[in-house]
Amino acid sequence: MSNVKAALDILEAKAPGFKAEVAMVLGSGLGGVVEAVSDAISISYEDLPGFPKPTVVGHGGTLVLGRIGGVSVAVMQGRAHYYEHGRSDLMAEPLETLHALGAERLILTNAAGSLMPDAVPGSLMLITDHMSLFGPNPLIGYHGEDRFVGMDVPYDPDIGSGLHDTAAKLGIKLFEGTYCWCTGPSFETPAEIRALKTLGADAVGMSTVPENILARRLGFKVAAVSNITNLAAGMSATPLSHEQTLEMSKTGSANLIKILLQYFSGSA
Ligand code: HPA
Repeated sequence: MSNVKAALDILEAKAPGFKAEVAMVLGSGLGGVVEAVSDAISISYEDLPGFPKPTVVGHGGTLVLGRIGGVSVAVMQGRAHYYEHGRSDLMAEPLETLHALGAERLILTNAAGSLMPDAVPGSLMLITDHMSLFGPNPLIGYHGEDRFVGMDVPYDPDIGSGLHDTAAKLGIKLFEGTYCWCTGPSFETPAEIRALKTLGADAVGMSTVPENILARRLGFKVAAVSNITNLAAGMSATPLSHEQTLEMSKTGSANLIKILLQYFSGSA
């Protein structure tokens, strides 16, 4: 049975009448975005049926409702990853809940490794396309005709150009590229990264793609930004680790907060 109705009842009790315009999912080290939310009401995922209980350090486990600039937002601080439970559909009910709360736009953020030598740690990359080659599609098992989601334009060009223009005004370089979802939790090998480079990947990470697919089925307009925490395996002498990912996310995170604040102020 769906938990969406139960979660909506709890949200209505905590934040009566609240309607979201934009939903967001924050990745590793990006929890600082919630500090930009005004009139914030925070609800632990523990209290929200269907919301994932994060098992990863750096992934908060809180839903924050409020405003950024002139826009009402529902921010998920923390997500479920395929590698935690072997299921790629664990974000289905949270996304359905946020959609039912009124959100039509979804902004996904993640930490990612870069396959572009210029996009060094601390850079941001707007995801313009993705590759979902290694994990199961989250819609496997859905029975409606709406499971056949068109993926020719997976990321919304209007939100993308809005974020791009905003970054340019702020003097922040926003790279663009294709994100490849690898299941994790181990990082990729240098040989895998060489292969992904040949296939056309610009960044690699362990999330976001299942959420994009689930969200597109619901009718969300989706944008996504990668916070580049490292050059991908084999591209630098620094060994990859989750600690490094968290540490290196700080510069990108600070810039992403600036972009989102400015973007929402302009798009109210
Ligand atoms: N690979 C996969 N996921 C990641 C990486 C990476 O290099 N960096 C941050 N998340």
